Amino acid sequence: MSKPNKQVVTPQLVTDSQTAIAADNLCFTYNAKSPFSKQALNNITLNIKKGEFVAVVGHTGSGKTTFVQHLNALIRVQSGELRVLEHNLSQKKVDLKLLRKQVGMVFQYPEYQLFADSVLDDVCFGLKNFGLKDKAEREALAEEAIGLVGLDFKEVKNKSPFDLSGGEKRRVALAGVLAMKPQILVMDEPTAGLDPRGKREILSLVSSLNKEQGITVVMVSHDMNEVYENADRIIVFRDGQIAYDTTPRDLFRNEEDIVSMNLEIPHMAKFANELERNGYIIPDNCKTVEQTFEAVMRLKGGE
Ligand SMILES: Nc1ncnc2c1ncn2[C@@H]1O[C@H](COP(=O)(O)OP(=O)(O)OP(=O)(O)O)[C@@H](O)[C@H]1O
Ligand SMILES: [Mg+2]
Repeated sequence: MSKPNKQVVTPQLVTDSQTAIAADNLCFTYNAKSPFSKQALNNITLNIKKGEFVAVVGHTGSGKTTFVQHLNALIRVQSGELRVLEHNLSQKKVDLKLLRKQVGMVFQYPEYQLFADSVLDDVCFGLKNFGLKDKAEREALAEEAIGLVGLDFKEVKNKSPFDLSGGEKRRVALAGVLAMKPQILVMDEPTAGLDPRGKREILSLVSSLNKEQGITVVMVSHDMNEVYENADRIIVFRDGQIAYDTTPRDLFRNEEDIVSMNLEIPHMAKFANELERNGYIIPDNCKTVEQTFEAVMRLKGGE
């Protein structure tokens, strides 16, 4: 039996111009009506605003991938309501071409989807597929996207994607998605399997896309340190339901419950919790040692 859900506010299914994603009682069962049926989502209700950086976490099998695959209609709605930008995904008829252009999806290990002979062709593939006929225009967008992910266009454009390092391949895959200029970027464990430096590079790229270009980010992750530092908000899935939907700082105050879900407490959250046990209230926006130090100094009256 899972514990009753805490700290979940039930928002209205509003779809004003500020809403990127709104779900109302979204449910999904794999192999419904068969002996192998498995309910993966159970009444998911949430509202994500344009420009937010939201992390989705939870133990393995909790429904994260099933949820995010709904966002560009890779999985179609079975019951409940789901709106993404101007699309009502609960209806049969959805403009999939437009939706998939607006919602860029980066799967786990996206480099496995690279296939073309050159980096340029790979990054241009989506643009061609989405009907951009002008080759020069495609290449200009590809050049911009390849630059954005921190690769040297001239150096890599004619290389085979298979001759790149793991981190570079992942950037090329990301460039293919960014070339489409998505409004929402959905990533399923984008840093899995990368070394610490590769992880940092991808995260700082995603973070700057969010902060500087206003792209809405929904990122599934198993790394609590990375979500603590980068996300504005964390949604915790537990057995197909939302267990928490709150700020990183607030979430990790619930140490025991978080650990009971097999999730780690980020180092900085442990530190801030310890300070709070000693009487200092650490504000929600403190994510680094420096910010926490400054908050403590302010509380101590600048001593
Ligand atoms: N194609 C499928 N057919 C049947 N059951 C599935 C399928 N995909 C997922 N499931 C089941 O649905 C549940 C949710 O799976 P999902 O992949 O969404 O979890 P997850 O949170 O992404 O897990 P992980 O952290 O391991 O990636 C699990 O119990 C899983 O076994
Ligand atoms: Mg998954």
